Amino acid sequence: MVKICCIGAGYVGGPTMAVIALKCPDIEVAVVDISVPRITAWNSDQLPIYEPGLEDVVKQCRGKNLFFSTDVEKHVREADIVFVSVNTPTKTRGLGAGKAADLTYWESAARMIADVSKSDKIVVEKSTVPVKTAEAIEKILTHNSKGINFQILSNPEFLAEGTAIEDLFKPDRVLIGGRETPAGQKAIKTLKDVYAHWVPEENIITTNLWSAELSKLAANAFLAQRISSVNAMSALCEATGANVNEVSYAIGKDTRIGSKFLNPSVGFGGSCFQKDILNLVYICECNGLPEVAEYWRQVIKINDYQKSRFVNRVVASMFNTVSNKKIAVLGFAFKKDTGDTRETPAIDVCKDFQKIYDNMQKPAFVFDGRNIVDVEKLRNIGFIVYSIGKPLDAWLKDMPAVA
Ligand code: UDX
Ligand code: ADP
Repeated sequence: MVKICCIGAGYVGGPTMAVIALKCPDIEVAVVDISVPRITAWNSDQLPIYEPGLEDVVKQCRGKNLFFSTDVEKHVREADIVFVSVNTPTKTRGLGAGKAADLTYWESAARMIADVSKSDKIVVEKSTVPVKTAEAIEKILTHNSKGINFQILSNPEFLAEGTAIEDLFKPDRVLIGGRETPAGQKAIKTLKDVYAHWVPEENIITTNLWSAELSKLAANAFLAQRISSVNAMSALCEATGANVNEVSYAIGKDTRIGSKFLNPSVGFGGSCFQKDILNLVYICECNGLPEVAEYWRQVIKINDYQKSRFVNRVVASMFNTVSNKKIAVLGFAFKKDTGDTRETPAIDVCKDFQKIYDNMQKPAFVFDGRNIVDVEKLRNIGFIVYSIGKPLDAWLKDMPAVA
């Protein structure tokens, strides 16, 4: 029986391993973490993270071929394949602070693997890391190997929060990068066989290590760039009287552009986009490519601009001051859970809008950062409504915001 151990029971490690265990009953999967509360939660009825469908998957396999444990060393020692899915935050101090990825957790995981291993292992980079991290990890492992053979693979995860289980069940692609040596290719084949339990072969892409590492950063940069592009358009729409939803629909009909990920918003959030782009910018700078770095930095600049543009609209339309005014924020998460709006409290809030209006000081405002409210309906009630990238009403035109 092949044994897998995953170091890091977080948003990536937990759901990914649960799905591997479900789809591969012939493989034993152990997810380990240094955090006792996290592991306790994974072993309880209250899982530490919420993802639709996750609980069901965990319940089917936990105790059979899926285990959560704090005994990191034991499970690493016994494993044939070790996934490393520890956190890689942006560095806050030292060289590259504010941009480069902090690889402290990664390095300590690699040193531990080298210390405790007694048999050959495939070590898989699962967390997003800067390009060429595998080289550093390889060095740590081989210089401390005591004759054990380690093969490093890069297998970035593309799941999005809120749809993790769906994304893992039906991934657009699985990407595996490895060394172009016979041993490297053999390791790729071993990991490919794991995913082949449920992913069609044509969706499993194999590349060299660096392509796999860079593809993850590139994918997130391209996705974020689309959002910044449509958000940039939203500013122009407001200035010209165009409607950004119409523009985005019209351009998305071009099959070369495609319709997904073109929703204007108050800006992208989440734990990945900004972090990964900053990381990409840093890598470009380190490789003497300032123009390329600047190009990608602009994606973040537009995102910041979109956020401040929104805030400026709010303040400007309320006579340039919000002090002593009460502003309710509806929906604080970085994104909605899914595209599904069934049972969302927002529906009730929208239905109750007349009551809200009656109870508010006048003029009453609604600022919609996600383009979800029915602008016409709310304007008919009497609200002054700002909706990103839509034609402005007279009030907002008279109160221009300075970005
Ligand atoms: C992202 C990537 O999608 C995923 O592939 C990667 O593995 C991790 O990073 P995630 O951050 O979970 O996933 O969420 P995502 O759905 O991509 O949304 C990120 C942000 O962009 C959210 O704030 C969302 O509201 C915003 N967004 C998304 C828009 O503003 N407009 C869009 O059209 C799409
Ligand atoms: P991600 O979103 O990438 O999955 P998380 O922060 O949710 O990141 O999870 C990373 C997990 O890795 C955390 O639970 C953390 O405790 C764990 N971790 C970090 N370093 C180690 C280590 N050396 N050994 C075991 N677990 C670790």
